[in-house]
Amino acid sequence: MSRRVAIAGASGYAGGELARLVTEHPELDLVTVTANSNAGKPLGEVHPHLAALGLTLRETTPAVLNGHDVVFLALPHGTSGELGDALDAQLVVDCGADHRLTDESDWADFYGGVFSQPWVYGMPELPEATATLSDATRIAVPGCNATAVTLGFAPLVFRGLVDTTDLVSVLAVGVSGAGKSLREDLLASEVLGSASAYAVGGSHRHNPEIRQNLQRLGADEVTLSFTPILVPMARGILATNTATLRGGVTATEVRSAIDVFYAENPFITLLPEGRQPRTADVLGSNATHLQVVVDERANRVVVTAAIDNLGKGTAGAAIQSTNLALGFPESLGLSVIGVAP
Ligand SMILES: NC(=O)c1ccc[n+]([C@@H]2O[C@H](COP(=O)([O-])OP(=O)(O)OC[C@H]3O[C@@H](n4cnc5c(N)ncnc54)[C@H](OP(=O)(O)O)[C@@H]3O)[C@@H](O)[C@H]2O)c1
Repeated sequence: MSRRVAIAGASGYAGGELARLVTEHPELDLVTVTANSNAGKPLGEVHPHLAALGLTLRETTPAVLNGHDVVFLALPHGTSGELGDALDAQLVVDCGADHRLTDESDWADFYGGVFSQPWVYGMPELPEATATLSDATRIAVPGCNATAVTLGFAPLVFRGLVDTTDLVSVLAVGVSGAGKSLREDLLASEVLGSASAYAVGGSHRHNPEIRQNLQRLGADEVTLSFTPILVPMARGILATNTATLRGGVTATEVRSAIDVFYAENPFITLLPEGRQPRTADVLGSNATHLQVVVDERANRVVVTAAIDNLGKGTAGAAIQSTNLALGFPESLGLSVIGVAP
């Protein structure tokens, strides 16, 4: 019997992508979609590509969301903490940041407001995560940039091949990463034909989440310089992650570490040598494309990672963890086939 699903925040980008993926999932049945300012409108008015679903956006309240088997929350951070506590669903999956961080002081430093208890972190690629997720009833979906950086560094940190006090990540990030609400700096006339860095100097909110992930992979101390750059594309993240190699580590060892770490993973592909990841190749999918090169002059390893911020970066990851929590095959309803060009 299909599980009855509600999506809170379905008028937004993450919620809209969730609606598309839930509809394509053979064991999930999208029953309810909710919104805030758009409540009362047909879903197809806000997301014309979802018009065929014939759903109307309702208010985001516990009364509307209760009575479903699975509730996905795709709301601004700070909104899903209290709401999540009031929900009766067997499984609640939060795409926001409210339940990701384990350290209250990180929450205070980077987000502020009421700290919510952490939920099971939905990154099956981390050690022992699959087992934890299989019992989960409350899941926090990782941040999109945090995903691209963590997946790039994970095998190297896990194997102790890099100095984790000297990590640098520079990301090209598509505009949908900022959500659908109107902002002057995100107008086409401001963004098209231009690229600009933001949250420079360590202030981006995904910093503590990445540190938390790398510590879980075995890093004692993490020092990361993390700079996202807004680029004129709707979707996609290309992360260029570099680190100083520990003495004597060879390019072959580095490549082999990534191969082995992701050997059983259905979504992560280390591309053949010489081919660099392109965001276009992963759009619309839950795939992550990686490449690794050692810059011998700089003694740095360079791991490039491409994901769709709304796929593996949010909605796809939410479905992946949901599959594990409900006992379905991890890749049920998810694709690794992109929509390029
Ligand atoms: N976009 C991404 O690539 C991405 C990636 C990873 C994680 N996330 C996370 O996913 C969450 C949603 O992001 P998004 O990009 O989809 O944002 P978005 O496009 O701005 O959508 C936000 C959604 O939340 C609703 N909403 C706004 N204020 C609300 C309130 N006070 N109470 C209840 N609902 C409210 C909006 O409803 P109305 O439109 O009807 O007002 C809309 O449905 C965020 O926490 C974000 O950090 C996003």
